[in-house]
Amino acid sequence: MRFWPAAGAPRIAVIGFGYVGSCLGVTLAGAGFDVVGVDRDRDLVADLAAGRCRVPEPGLAEALAGLAGGPLLAFTTDYDAVRAVDVVVVTVGTPVDDGGALETAQLEEVCGELAPRLRPGQLVLLKSTVAPGVTRGLVKPLLEGSGLVQGEDFGLAYCPERLAEGNALAQLVTLPVVVGGCDPASADAADLFWRTALGVEVRRVPDADVAEVVKLASNWWIDVNVAMANELARFCALYGVDVLEVISAANSLPKGTGRVNVLLPSVGVGGSCLTKDPWMVWRAARDRGADLRTVRTAREVNDAMPDYAAGLIGDELAKLGKDVGSATVAVLGAAFKSDTGDLRHTPVLGVVRALRATGATVRLFDPLADPDAMRRVFGVEPERELADAVVGADCVAVLAGHRAFADLPPEWLAGLVSLPCLVFDGRAYYSREYIERLRRNGFGYRGIGR
Ligand SMILES: NC(=O)c1ccc[n+]([C@@H]2O[C@H](COP(=O)([O-])OP(=O)(O)OC[C@H]3O[C@@H](n4cnc5c(N)ncnc54)[C@H](O)[C@@H]3O)[C@@H](O)[C@H]2O)c1
Repeated sequence: MRFWPAAGAPRIAVIGFGYVGSCLGVTLAGAGFDVVGVDRDRDLVADLAAGRCRVPEPGLAEALAGLAGGPLLAFTTDYDAVRAVDVVVVTVGTPVDDGGALETAQLEEVCGELAPRLRPGQLVLLKSTVAPGVTRGLVKPLLEGSGLVQGEDFGLAYCPERLAEGNALAQLVTLPVVVGGCDPASADAADLFWRTALGVEVRRVPDADVAEVVKLASNWWIDVNVAMANELARFCALYGVDVLEVISAANSLPKGTGRVNVLLPSVGVGGSCLTKDPWMVWRAARDRGADLRTVRTAREVNDAMPDYAAGLIGDELAKLGKDVGSATVAVLGAAFKSDTGDLRHTPVLGVVRALRATGATVRLFDPLADPDAMRRVFGVEPERELADAVVGADCVAVLAGHRAFADLPPEWLAGLVSLPCLVFDGRAYYSREYIERLRRNGFGYRGIGR
């Protein structure tokens, strides 16, 4: 093994301690490895060092608090810390511009800091999502800028991060890690590292370019699949058919090496990945003269869902004899998906804007989201308690399906809201029995496609 000589446990630097970096760094330190988190954001580093977690991932704050200040997890803005480690994992942001092109500034800055500090034997693993060829064509030459030769002096592999927010800590120690090395020795070292550090399976692919496209393919597939589920939901609504019944039966069909797997419809697709990675694919294709229509179509379909959801709320309130323009809507769950507090590109904002445009009063409650971030994104003071949000409401709109909203007693809700009240299920997940209970207690019910 030429890189990361496996004598003793590897010391690890995680560069970029945002959502992915925090989850990964805390997991690695929790597994007993010596981890230093390097981030250019001084305030963030101060928060982390004090054990304060900004990432709204279930379980992360507790895990960080248990490790901060201890011997295994340190934080710094000073890149000199990487001199002492064996493995450098890069998890900085990779946004796209308005034309879908990957913005490489964060990556370039990291490489500029790393290059003069790299020493022979170190292994660099890039996890950030990038366009095809970026590891080989951008990162490698930048890291070689100070004279070390990749493949001879230091190792380099692309290992995309595939965790899903809301379940990240469990996924980090169970999902297979895809490894594409820039040379065979780097691939060997990366393979051993992930198996040792996280105890996970490794899926080797021939090179870094393949691994880069694997990540993009997954998110492209998810976005297209959800777009199909969303249009299926709209189709089912036209015929009074419950989309969940359709999906669960349709998914029993064996196909290829698995089964049909239609995902669930919802108020839209948000977050920091699915809203940009498909565009990264589209732009990378366009740069080579091809127009990928499934990318554009899926993005359009998913981006249209917040307005569709707001329209459904208005229609259903009208059926209950209420005018949306003078209604109070209690939005439960502001995050972009269930069981995270992440508000980045949340489709809930589109629903809220569309409702406000009708004149409706909208209240917001999300127990997982940071109240400051809620104020910044939505421009209103969030409610502190669920009861404060729903009191006197004409509609309770569950727009992120957090566990806390899975089993709200309709009998209790009925005593707070203004009946008849619509329960709008933006994540299509309430059971038939629960919907019946809602109806028995004076509620109307409407979901996406049901
Ligand atoms: N969030 C997810 O669920 C998820 C899942 C899979 C993959 N990804 C990918 O992982 C990458 C990171 O995503 P994220 O959501 O963690 O981003 P993020 O914005 O939460 O975190 C990025 C961090 O990098 C830091 N940073 C930026 N430039 C730096 C530099 N030069 N030196 C040191 N630190 C620097 C920032 O201060 C920030 O803390 C992206 O490529 C993203 O597409 C994210």
